[in-house]
Amino acid sequence: MSLKKPPVLGIIKVGECSDALFYQRGIERTAKKTGVEYVIREFPEKIGQEDFLKEIQKINRNKKIDGYIVLLPLPSHISPEKVFEHISPNKDAEGMTPYNLGKILLGEPVVIPPTPLAVLEIFEKYEIPVKSKNVVIIGRSKEVGMPLANLLMLKKEYGNATVTVCHSKTKEIKKITKKADILIAAMGKALFVKRDFIKKGAVVIDVGINLYKGKIVGDVDFEDVKSKAGAITPVPGGVGVITSHLILKNLIKICEKDSGRWQKAAYR
Ligand SMILES: NC(=O)c1ccc[n+]([C@@H]2O[C@H](COP(=O)([O-])OP(=O)(O)OC[C@H]3O[C@@H](n4cnc5c(N)ncnc54)[C@H](OP(=O)(O)O)[C@@H]3O)[C@@H](O)[C@H]2O)c1
Repeated sequence: MSLKKPPVLGIIKVGECSDALFYQRGIERTAKKTGVEYVIREFPEKIGQEDFLKEIQKINRNKKIDGYIVLLPLPSHISPEKVFEHISPNKDAEGMTPYNLGKILLGEPVVIPPTPLAVLEIFEKYEIPVKSKNVVIIGRSKEVGMPLANLLMLKKEYGNATVTVCHSKTKEIKKITKKADILIAAMGKALFVKRDFIKKGAVVIDVGINLYKGKIVGDVDFEDVKSKAGAITPVPGGVGVITSHLILKNLIKICEKDSGRWQKAAYR
């Protein structure tokens, strides 16, 4: 369908937010290429939580912004969970509000966080079957591991996997990862996954983005693992490349609700 006007994405920043600069630049580049407009709203590092939440409510009411994202990390005195609670689900381009995360749990995803969505898109694009496969995810964050595990379990075309989630308290992790048909590393530990973590032919998806010895590397030691894996995503150039596109895809889905297509816009 065609929209009546270019969608407008809000990029909300508190303070310098230097850790998110790479992410922000990627979104800006993608927006320019695709004709999506964006506005950046910057707030000072010292803004109090209550004042920031009031600003969020103003953005919810701002008709010029169709959807928005709040760059993380926020200063330590502002709780990201509180912020997500205040974002209108109708403007939640990152799918991080309790409503949108809850809809995943209920098996009715609407707006999916971009990183789990990127993994689903990779499976679809490269025709990697997920149904009945043993999928092991390392990491249980609210942004990545947790929603992804739930999505892959759903009774959907892209789901029906048997999912195991590992985290920092998991014992003998290699015994678990070696059973994986598909291994997804989303832990934030540079080059953690080595050749002896995987079974031959496994699909390896590396979500990690880590600065290591002055270079961006994943959670998987690509050079060590690549000849044993059936398929593997590189870092950089893998999952991360797609996420900025998917924020804009979410934004368009949000815009479609205005034309009464909201229910249809639910993810597949
Ligand atoms: N490609 C992208 O677009 C994209 C987007 C978002 C994030 N990322 C990257 O993905 C990585 C994960 O991000 P995140 O936000 O999910 O991180 P996070 O919130 O720090 O969560 C890390 C998860 O990994 C687990 N973990 C840490 N060390 C472990 C270990 N030694 N063994 C097993 N599990 C371990 C943690 O366990 P506990 O729960 O027990 O602490 C936690 O569940 C980071 O490198 C981040 O930069 C990439």
